Amino acid sequence: MATAAALVATSLLATLLLLLAGGASAATLALYNKCGETVWPGIQPGAGKEILARGGFQLAPNRATSIRLPTGWSGRVWGRQGCSFDAAGRGKCATGDCGGALYCNGAGGTPPATLAEITLAGTPTALDFYDVSLVDGYNVAIAMAPYHGSGANCRAAGCVSDLNSVCPAGLAVRGGNKVVGCRSACAAYGNAEYCCTGQFGGPQQCKPTNYSRLFKRACPKAYSYAYDDPTSILTCSSGTSYVVTFCPHRR
Ligand SMILES: *[C@@H]1O[C@H](CO)[C@@H](O)[C@H](O)[C@H]1NC(C)=O
Repeated sequence: MATAAALVATSLLATLLLLLAGGASAATLALYNKCGETVWPGIQPGAGKEILARGGFQLAPNRATSIRLPTGWSGRVWGRQGCSFDAAGRGKCATGDCGGALYCNGAGGTPPATLAEITLAGTPTALDFYDVSLVDGYNVAIAMAPYHGSGANCRAAGCVSDLNSVCPAGLAVRGGNKVVGCRSACAAYGNAEYCCTGQFGGPQQCKPTNYSRLFKRACPKAYSYAYDDPTSILTCSSGTSYVVTFCPHRR
């Protein structure tokens, strides 16, 4: 039997997909918050690319929003949690903070933060590349699903399980008495082996470690360290839209 909450979520998603379908040929990025709490998404463009939606905003539980994606755009999306801002948009977030601003305006988030990364095709025959990355650690579960895309590697990416609950103590970031984020082993310990630098600076030299394996086990569809298996990077036909869902498994 469907619960009231599930019905609300279902009708919201239907509205969201209609919104996407209504967007003619333009690609869209939809952000959907299924978490029990507000999430403040951050969107950082790649070098020289346009700032979308002022780089960040507030997204209440069970709400979705969609943003038009310019051709050839690249950038990353993450979720900020536990934020409070004043009327001028100044404040801070417990995770993913972008310099204390509500509107990140091109700034990135402080790790650890789960990242959804996108590089859109610049021409109709080229491909979009995207992945969900744990290279900067983890804060919130993210699913990233293509919509109206095609190709053999056009499928859902994500880190949909709660990595905070299995985070080794040495990597955990605590807020109050709970774990709110899980740092990468590189950020926590700084060894060349974990960071893929120095003598470990290459795909042949930098192998999975016990930490990256733990991330990969929890999140097989995410990119777990700098030289993870390239199959974690997915591709879709140009013009595909994407839905990024925070806390996808929560009902
Ligand atoms: C990973 O390996 C290092 C070095 O062998 C060890 O000190 C650490 O406790 C291990 N951590 C986990 C989470 O297995």
